Amino acid sequence: MNREVPVSFKSRATPTAAAEVAASILRRSKLRPTLAIQLGSGFQHLLASCTVVLEIPYASLPGFAMPDVPGHLGKFVLGSVEKIPVVLLGGRSHYYEGKTMGDITFPIRVLAELGIKSILLTNAAGGINSSYRPGDFMCVTDHINFMGENPLRGAVAPGRRRFIDMTDAYNRSLRRLLQEAADQAQIRLHHGVFLAVSGPSFETPAEIRAFGLLGADAVGMSTVPETIVARQCGLKVAALACITNLAAGRNKEPLSHHEVLETGKRVAPQAAALIENFVRLYASH
Ligand code: HPA
Repeated sequence: MNREVPVSFKSRATPTAAAEVAASILRRSKLRPTLAIQLGSGFQHLLASCTVVLEIPYASLPGFAMPDVPGHLGKFVLGSVEKIPVVLLGGRSHYYEGKTMGDITFPIRVLAELGIKSILLTNAAGGINSSYRPGDFMCVTDHINFMGENPLRGAVAPGRRRFIDMTDAYNRSLRRLLQEAADQAQIRLHHGVFLAVSGPSFETPAEIRAFGLLGADAVGMSTVPETIVARQCGLKVAALACITNLAAGRNKEPLSHHEVLETGKRVAPQAAALIENFVRLYASH
């Protein structure tokens, strides 16, 4: 019987493959952005603000995992926002989908090989801080990794270091730009600590109380692995969370992914304004 041996997806998301994928993208366009934005749950609509030069479905990029969560499109876009060249990662894969840390952080390694210097990561999060309301935004000042794994575990990527300083993981000057962008759009922006869990179950009220005591202001199921790998690759990182719901036990309603998407849709215009302003300020800072 002529049975085809399936190529393991994981085997293609290696740090060495990142350089090859980047080279293939660079051959297809002359645009050389230094800023990338990863669009998480509730942020996909930013694609509408982008003048697209090159759009590639993740499925056509070796090593890029196709997200299997509603609200994540799964496309790599090279183009411009506010006339500033950018890369948009339209959607991300999550650890809870069963993908490895190497899989979900592979696009970040490709960005580094493309010459990207700064990345804005976006996500949906549950509000732990009692002053946060659904629809608010939070600029991440620091994180707590509660995912139970670190994406740098294992062999060191060629040319990279193993032990990465995380003291100023979320870049101060990019955080200032986010605040300025929010001020311009008259949007209230919280600044707080993001705690990442692996998911996919939402947290229990007892976990949320514990996370609050640990110093977390918001909780989500992404972003931290990408931040760690971006820092290893020398990228400056900023992260913006949309507080799509109050965390478990903070109100009487049960939590659902539907609520996460609905809030994201409701605040889409504010999210777009904030990010467009950020891109403009980034280009002039
Ligand atoms: N918990 C974890 N992840 C989330 C939440 C939450 O309440 N909301 C959006 N992503």
